[in-house]
Formats: sequence, structure tokens, C-alpha cells
Amino acid sequence: EKGGFSSFMEKEINDQPDAVAQTLLGRSDLDGKLTLDELRIDPELLKQVNKIIVLACGTAAYAGTVAKYAIENWCRIPTEVELAHEFRYRDPILDENTLVVSISQSGETMDTLMAVRYAREQGAKTISICNTNGSTIPRESDAVLYTHAGPEIAVASTKAFLAQITAAYLLGLYLAQLRGNIFSGQIKDVLADLNKIPAKIQTILDSAGPLRELARSMANEKSVLFLGRHVGYPVALEGALKLKEIAYIHAEGFAAGELKHGPIALIDDGQPVFVVVPSPRGRDSLHAKVVSNIQEVRARGARTLVIAEEGDEAVKAYAEYVFYVPETPTLLMPLLTTVPLQIFAAELAAAKGYDVDQPRNLAKSVTVE
Ligand code: F6R
Repeated sequence: EKGGFSSFMEKEINDQPDAVAQTLLGRSDLDGKLTLDELRIDPELLKQVNKIIVLACGTAAYAGTVAKYAIENWCRIPTEVELAHEFRYRDPILDENTLVVSISQSGETMDTLMAVRYAREQGAKTISICNTNGSTIPRESDAVLYTHAGPEIAVASTKAFLAQITAAYLLGLYLAQLRGNIFSGQIKDVLADLNKIPAKIQTILDSAGPLRELARSMANEKSVLFLGRHVGYPVALEGALKLKEIAYIHAEGFAAGELKHGPIALIDDGQPVFVVVPSPRGRDSLHAKVVSNIQEVRARGARTLVIAEEGDEAVKAYAEYVFYVPETPTLLMPLLTTVPLQIFAAELAAAKGYDVDQPRNLAKSVTVE
């Protein structure tokens, strides 16, 4: 059932072109119009939404942060992301014009379920992004947008994460379409870019040999840091979480701009630091800022391991190692830049002889609060 792979996690990493393609399938027409009638939520109600709160835990919450950036960009609706287990305990402000979007692979995470119940009691509209048909969270939500990643067996989430991000993009584009926030031509362009993602993920999977070698050479590391900015920030957090979970290596993700506010004190000779670099074709200041963050840590002795876009020559001067992902618009980059970090963690954990599918102390779905 592992399809010739050494673990379910490896299989699921390799399933990702399909997970994204299946999640996109049948949700737009040839004219580039989103057709999410399956949501069965009155479009008039969605037009009145003036605030969105994304609720999730762990990896799904990182997908939520990507969702926030995309939704705010396309819909201009203020969007917050909150860990579901923090949400209920702070008397959050929500009403019938608040849309709560929960994200859960299993649909059974108790923390997320309790937060959704609470939001509904307060009168908010609730949409669930979920990978498991008929599970509890979608049943208790007003509407559901399923991710079609297929069953995820490995405890550490991979393909479900990419599918969650994909579904969140679709939801964001749908809301923008309903509310007339962006031109239909622009929606069509983003959909076309999304449809190119599966082949680009395949390119990454096919070119990971040197990355796997790097991972094996790092089996004795005690600590690895991850930096990112904008949508690269949740990707950095996800890269660190994967490494903690399955390789039991201390790992931290930081927003690159936070470095000088404290974490840079951690950098000394030989400290490995992954840096997720935004496209140089996007907002230029964003790219330049991250490149200067690479320089800053490098100047203090860090080993700089860079994930950048194909054609980005600027990073080369400061990087010990560069993994290039194919060109894609900045907002969609997490669907690509996450993949090398997953591969890195899985390869390193396997090199240490760990069971990558069943990490210690963790369960696939967390059904207690
Ligand atoms: C990490 C991981 C967890 C889950 C979290 C939420 O690899 O899998 O952080 O993302 O427990 O689970 P779901 O998405 O089932 O609600």
C-alpha cells in the first residue's frame, strides 16, 4: 500500500501533485469562474461577511496563515488566524457577519471542533475545509469545502497541508468573485497558475537527490532554524514542525524580520538556517529584505540553506546550498516551497533510523482537548 515507497510519508509527499490537482478539479469552469455551489451557503450571506476568522491547530493553522494572506489580498476582508485551542478562552468578538473558516485534515480534532461549536453559538457562519468525508467538524459546520488529498496515513501531515492551502485559495477566489473584489480576468489567471502547480511539484520531487544527500549529512545536528517572510513565514514554521515531529531535532521557525529582535543571538558558527526566499519578480522590497537576512546570519557564521525561485541569482553569493523551485506567483509559492522542507525532514528522520510514519508521543488525530 506504500506504493513502493519506504514509508507512507514518502508516498504522501510524492502524492502531492495529485492531491493539489484533485482538490482543484471540477471547481471552476473554462471561463475561469469558480463554481463552489457545493458550499450550499447563501451567496447573499457571504457578501455580507465583514470579518473572517480562520481556526485550526498545528500544520492546519499554518495553512490558515497562508489563507489569511491570500484572502486579505484578494477579498480585502480583514482575516485573523487563531489556534483553535486559544480562541474560546479569550471572549472573541464575532457576530452573524463573521465567517469562521476551520481547517482540519481529520475533521475530528477536538480543539477545532469546540472552537467551531462556540463560533456557531455566537451566530457566526462556519465553513469547514476538511479532508475526511462525513467527519464531525464538517457535519457541525454550515458548509464544507472538502480537500481531495485522499487518506493521509502518516502522522505528520504533508499532502493534506498542500490540499488545505489549495482549498483556501479557491475559497478566497470565490469570495472575491462573489463580492466583485477582483476582475474576472485576474481570477482566471490565478486559476491558470494554480493548475500549473501539480507539474511544478513533480519537478521538485524529481530534482531532490542533492537535497536528500544534504539531509543525510545533517543527521547529527542538534538544532535547525527556519526563516521566512510573508507567505514564506508559515512555510518556515511548517519546515520546523516537520523536523521536530519526525526527526526529534530542535527546530524553530521565525518571521525573518524578527531576527534582529532576538533570535539572531542564537546564530553562531555552523548553525544551520533554512531561508525561504520570495520570488524576485514579486514586490522587490520583500525579496531584497530576505536576501539581506541571509547575509546577516551568514555573517555570523550560519550555514545558509536557501529555498529560492529558479533564476534567482542574487541568493547564490550568500548561500551554502540553494534548492530552486519553479517560478510561480508569490502568493502561491507555499505550494512549492514547502515540498523541499518535507523531503528534508523525512530523509533526515529516516537516516536516523526513526519510524517516520509513527513518531513518538503523537497520534494522527487528537480527539481530546
Ligand atoms: C503535523 C500535524 C498536526 C495536525 C494538527 C491538526 O504534521 O499533522 O499538527 O495538523 O493536529 O490536525 P487536523 O488537521 O486533523 O485537525
